[in-house]
Amino acid sequence: MEVSADRNGIDSWKEVTLIYNSALKQISTKLEILNDEFQHVHRYNPIEHIKSRIKTPESIVKKLKKHGYESTIENMVKYVNDIAGIRVICSFTSDIYQIAEMISNQSDIKVISVKDYIVNPKASGYKSYHMLVSVPVYLSDRIEETKVEIQIRTVAMDFWASLEHKIHYKFEGNAPEHIKEQLVECSRIVSNLDERMLDLNKEIQQLEDGKE
Ligand code: GTP
Ligand code: MG
Repeated sequence: MEVSADRNGIDSWKEVTLIYNSALKQISTKLEILNDEFQHVHRYNPIEHIKSRIKTPESIVKKLKKHGYESTIENMVKYVNDIAGIRVICSFTSDIYQIAEMISNQSDIKVISVKDYIVNPKASGYKSYHMLVSVPVYLSDRIEETKVEIQIRTVAMDFWASLEHKIHYKFEGNAPEHIKEQLVECSRIVSNLDERMLDLNKEIQQLEDGKE
């Protein structure tokens, strides 16, 4: 991979991994703190689990190529928004919006863009709440504002997305029509399930509140 040496910022793959890993650690810690505080205040954890990953160099190069950019460190940092990715899995749809708001309210986090695929699902049936944020990473001699893609979804949406991803991969994006149709149908079932579980949870909470 070509490395441009004429920059003062991030100038090697080693530095890319260091900085993006630091950004992931910061966002993960922030989410864990919010989850702990939520447990303290509301007596339940909105986050089921968190997964994070750094995009592989191969996959970054593939993405740059797809968009017609040369494989340089500078282009990676500028054009690839999901070098650092974090996935937050919640129980209920309402948790998703609460977490998104709590993250946006933190003064060191800048929200660059939001894609709400829950309100506007993709044609595939894909649902999730995506936020592209930047977080400052403090190095010995400078601060690097680093982009992190946050995907927030329910357990049910995650279940759907994992299977759809496997199918997409298996058929290299050309899955048979009847399979695609079934996935869209399953995505509707997922929404219905999420709604019913949320209603059920509300009802249980009201009963519990009534006991106190
Ligand atoms: P890329 O898809 O990463 O090129 O960027 P984009 O600008 O289209 O972003 P988008 O927010 O649409 O999607 C980014 C990520 O969301 C993907 O890398 C996947 O992890 C996830 N995603 C988006 N669409 C789908 C989908 O139809 N199925 C599944 N399983 N995941 C999806
Ligand atoms: Mg996409």
